[in-house]
Parts: sequence; C-alpha cells; structure tokens
Amino acid sequence: MITINSLSLSHGIRVLFDKAGIVFEDGKTALVGRNGSGKTTLFNIITNNSEKDNGEIILSADTRIGYLRQEMDIEDSPLKPVEFVLKEIDYYNKYTEMLEQIKHIEKPSDRLLNNIAVYEEDFRHNAGYSLPERTEKMLISLGFSKHIDKQVRELSYGYRMRLLLTKLLLEDNNMLFLDEPTNHLDLPSIKWFEQYLLNSKKNAIIVSHDREFLDTLCTRTIEISRQKLNKFKGNYSFYKIEKEKIIEKEKQELRNLLEQEKQLIAFISKWKAKESKVAMAQSREKILVKVRNRINNIHIIREKDARFNYNNVEVIKSKTGINGIIEDKSYDKTNVLRNVEIDINPVKKIFLIGRNGVGKSTLVRILAGNDEKYNGNIRYNESLKLLYFDFDSISKLPGSETVLSFIQNDEPSEFRAKTLLGMMMFGGDDYDKKIRVLSGGEKIRLYLTKLFISKFNYIILDEPTNYLDIDTIDIFIKWLEGLKTGFIIVSHNEYLLKSVKSDEMWEINNGKLHIHFGNYRDYISYQKNLIVDYEEKSFLPINKINKKSNRQQIVNKRIEINKKIKDIEEQISQLENERDEIFKMLTDTDIYKKDSENVRKNRKREREITLLLEALYHDWNKLIESMPILD
Ligand SMILES: Nc1ncnc2c1ncn2[C@@H]1O[C@H](COP(=O)(O)OP(=O)(O)OP(=O)(O)O)[C@@H](O)[C@H]1O
Ligand SMILES: [Mg+2]
Repeated sequence: MITINSLSLSHGIRVLFDKAGIVFEDGKTALVGRNGSGKTTLFNIITNNSEKDNGEIILSADTRIGYLRQEMDIEDSPLKPVEFVLKEIDYYNKYTEMLEQIKHIEKPSDRLLNNIAVYEEDFRHNAGYSLPERTEKMLISLGFSKHIDKQVRELSYGYRMRLLLTKLLLEDNNMLFLDEPTNHLDLPSIKWFEQYLLNSKKNAIIVSHDREFLDTLCTRTIEISRQKLNKFKGNYSFYKIEKEKIIEKEKQELRNLLEQEKQLIAFISKWKAKESKVAMAQSREKILVKVRNRINNIHIIREKDARFNYNNVEVIKSKTGINGIIEDKSYDKTNVLRNVEIDINPVKKIFLIGRNGVGKSTLVRILAGNDEKYNGNIRYNESLKLLYFDFDSISKLPGSETVLSFIQNDEPSEFRAKTLLGMMMFGGDDYDKKIRVLSGGEKIRLYLTKLFISKFNYIILDEPTNYLDIDTIDIFIKWLEGLKTGFIIVSHNEYLLKSVKSDEMWEINNGKLHIHFGNYRDYISYQKNLIVDYEEKSFLPINKINKKSNRQQIVNKRIEINKKIKDIEEQISQLENERDEIFKMLTDTDIYKKDSENVRKNRKREREITLLLEALYHDWNKLIESMPILD
C-alpha cells in the first residue's frame, strides 16, 4: 500500500499537483491522465527520483518497487540476453559473484562465509537455481528465439526493453510501476505479458494508452485531473462511465445555478427600489453571492482535446503512387527484406503488422525515402507528397530548443505557430519549455504538430499511437477514419487496427512481404489460430488461458453494455435539453397571451418528454445493474 498525503509540485507557473492525496491499495491499479498530467512524475517522486515541493509519501513496510520507465537508456553491453538479465537481478548476481570470489580464496574468513550464508538464503528463497532456465523461457515467450544468442548491443530498442521487463518480472519485488509497458511490444508479446500479470500476485500501478490492456488487468483506476488524484472503484471502462456521469452532474448543477442566478438578479432589480421590499431584496443579494461562489467553484472537468483537421490533406487522382522492388535489404550480412514488390496507389490504406524485428520499420523507412541503402528501385509519382512519422524522429528531437521555436523553424508566423500548437493542446505555459523536459506524449504531439504544417497526399506512420493518451488516440482514430488519402501504418494497437478500415493488411515473414486483402477483422478470422498457437507455445498452463478467455467474455460484455448506456445517455441529454428549452419558453409571460396554441403544444411535449425520460432512466438503471463485474 502506498499513501500520498498533500502532495504539491509546480514547474514554474504550471502546477502539476496541488495538495493531492490518495491511497494506492494492493492489487492492480490503472493510473490515468492526459499527456503531461504528471503520471511519470508521480512514479519518479514515489521512487525518490524526482523532487516534490511538499507532501508526504508513505510506503507500507516491505514494499519493494520494481520500476519500468517510459523512456529508458539501455547500455550497449557485450553480454548475451540471459547473462544480461541475470546480472541485473540483485539476489542472483550478488550470490554468484561471491561464489566466484570464494573459489580463489584458500581459507575464507568466517565473516565472508556468514555473508554468503545470508545471500544464499535469499537465493534459495527466490528459487535462484532455476532462474537461468526461467529467464530463458520468459525471453523466448517474449519473442527472443532468434536473438537469444546475440549480444545485447546488437539488439533493437524494443528487445532491449524486453530484457528490463524480464528482469522486473523475475526479480524480488512486490509492487510494479509500469509506465507504458506495452509500447515496444508486438501483439503476441502484449497478450503474453497480459496473461503473466493476470496470474501474478505482484501489485502493480500501470500507465498505458492501451485500453484493452488496462481493462483486462486493473480493478481500480486512479486519475490525475486538475492537480488532484481521484479514485474510481473499477477498471478503465467503468472509470470512463463514472467520469461522464460526474461531468453531466456538474453540467446539470451549473445549469440550475445559472438559472437561479438569473431569477435572483431579476428579483433584486425589480424590488430593490421599493422601500417595503428592500429587506427582501437584500437577503436575496446575500443568496446571490453564495450562488455565484458555487458557480465559480464548479469546473466542468472535461479536459481539452487535441484537434486534427484535414486542412493539409490533398488527394491525387492518379493510379500510381509508389512502385518498384526492393530486391535485397540487409544490415551487415543479415538479410531483412528480399524481393519485396511494391505497388501502391495514392488512396490505398494499408496496415503493416508482424512481430518486432521482422523489418517493418525498415520497409517503411525505405518507402518514405529515408533509407537508400538497398538493392532495387522504388519510384514515386511526381505529385506524391509524403507525410512520414516514426519513433526515431522523436528520440532525435533537439532537447535544448523550446517548443515554440521548434515549430517556428517551419512556421515563422508566431500566430500560426501558436494556433498549430494549440491544436495539439500546447498552451501559453508550454511555449518556452525546453523539449528535453516534455513528457513522452507531449514529444509525440509536438512532432505531430510539425507534420501538419505542410500539405500531403499520402502518409506513412510507424507506431503513431505509442505514448499518446487514450482520448487523443480516439481523436486520431476518428481522423484516420475520415482521411481521404491512403496510408501505410505500422501498429500493434489492436483498438486502432479494429476501428479503422483498411484495404490491405501487410505482414512480413522471413524477409518476404505477405499481402492479405481486407481489414484487420478479416485478417484475424483468416488467421484464427494465430494467438491461440502463440499462447500454447508459451509456458502458461492452459486452464489459466481459459480463465482469461472467460474474463475476455466479461470484458466484451461490459463493452457492449457500455455502448448501450452511452446511447441512452445521449438520448437523455437530448431530451433534457429540449425540456429545458420548453421551460425557458414558458417562463416568458407574454407568450401565454400571444401564442396560446404554441403553449399548449409545448406543455403536451413536455409531458411526453417526462414520460420518455422516466422510461430511459429505468432502462439505464437496468443496464447498470446487468453489468458483469470483473473480479
Ligand atoms: N523540469 C521541468 N520543467 C518544466 N516542466 C517540466 C519539467 N519536467 C516535467 N515537466 C512538465 O511536467 C508535466 C508532466 O510530465 P510527466 O512526464 O509527468 O507527464 P505524463 O503524465 O507522464 O505524460 P505522458 O502521458 O505524456 O507520459 C509535463 O507538462 C512536462 O512538460
Ligand atoms: Mg509519462
């Protein structure tokens, strides 16, 4: 259990936490909040990696935290993957190093022997003897089969990150801080990891942009909103519904208060001048002050959203876009792509999927014209204006430049630059921030801002949703759905793949490109056994997989019910608005004289609405009651 009392922290004028307090109970908790709200900062404060202005953090005795950072520096080590992980695990490393030492000492001292005995107990307690075997199995489950004999320095970032993940899962901790843990994992690895956590007794606080991952794992949600920490007793979907309810309630309260304010003002101005009523008017004035205070204290908690538009989108009519062949693309002597034929017209929508390291990024980098070291020939339609985005560009952002000056390099007009930044939710207190201090999601949004400066008619995006918060991903998905140009998008985000329709699914396997016509759902039904196969190969017992599929059914059911609830809430809100309008009209006393027919009609409609609302409230309650609970 972790208790946070009265936590405050500001960076310049930006207040991140203001006397925030919360208790993180045992179990698995989702930590949510918009990009830049302070999730990573909170992890850093709790683990003493970051300062706070004020407040108290209390960890219950024997809390051992394992922290997977959002952005990691992983050394260029000559060790093999298993050796590397073992070296990182304290209880294993200390004990084996001591054994090594003692080999070279003829007569070890009693102190040394005592020390060894202490470490040995730890080692036994953690089943250290089987650790090398368990490490290897876990790495294989995370897709290491081809890389198990490589040196760490030869591995890509995604694989290096898996080494830290493996270390974290196997070391002796009982509270995991996972900051965007699925970012560099492919779909089968995410599924494996989800299973592993589901069956693990470790407590965890999880930050993730992957709602399915959060929904499956977390039974509690804590949000950072308006400098405070708030707790919701359910998973992410539950949190979303509750949050909407709170917003609706606040809106309703605000409406009532504004109405009250209007009536009070009318009353006061009418009677203030009349001597016999002065006392009454004065008492109403006191009430008015109170009402206004309450109005000022209500903030509708809906956060600002990013805005994606189509202003820079052009469509070319031509049938040719990108054509040609990559005969061979190799790194050193390892071949990555072989005889890949490309025929893309400018409106073709393509998702590129496949395990990490198969060459997806290599392929799109070549197609985007960012890598010319290959054999073959790729030709482009002369009118093609490509928009390209990848994770590398993010890590190469100039840390010492400010947010505004970075955009002004391409868009000198300060006004336009600020407007574009505003679309990506950057405000006045962000302009002078150095890029180095931006949160993961802010860096991506900054880069996306830059991409919307110039016109384009085809886009190639490599993992665009990593680090974006869930709400921004939703907006991005809607934008993709309405996009008139074609695209190639590399993604492991199942929600995105399921939501946006594509013409082709591309998959790279052993250097070859396989094209499946249709969208992700078609692809999944075609490849039905893909995930089952994968899970069977991993070392989890089958009954646990069944437990998971039951759980998945519950999650699906919850999603289905949530959809219906949303629909009903939409109808309720429309009817309530209509009824408010009618009330407003009926308060105008003149209308009774001028248009009695209209009054009659509206009264009838109001009665109808009341009945309809009652029925809807009833349905809404029934749906809430029928919601299956995730344990
Ligand atoms: N040294 C600093 N000076 C100024 N602002 C800072 C500094 N360090 C962090 N920030 C700001 O604090 C805010 C919170 O950052 P943090 O990394 O905790 O966000 P986050 O919730 O983890 O976001 P994301 O979802 O993008 O990872 C951001 O707006 C960031 O720009
Ligand atoms: Mg973060």
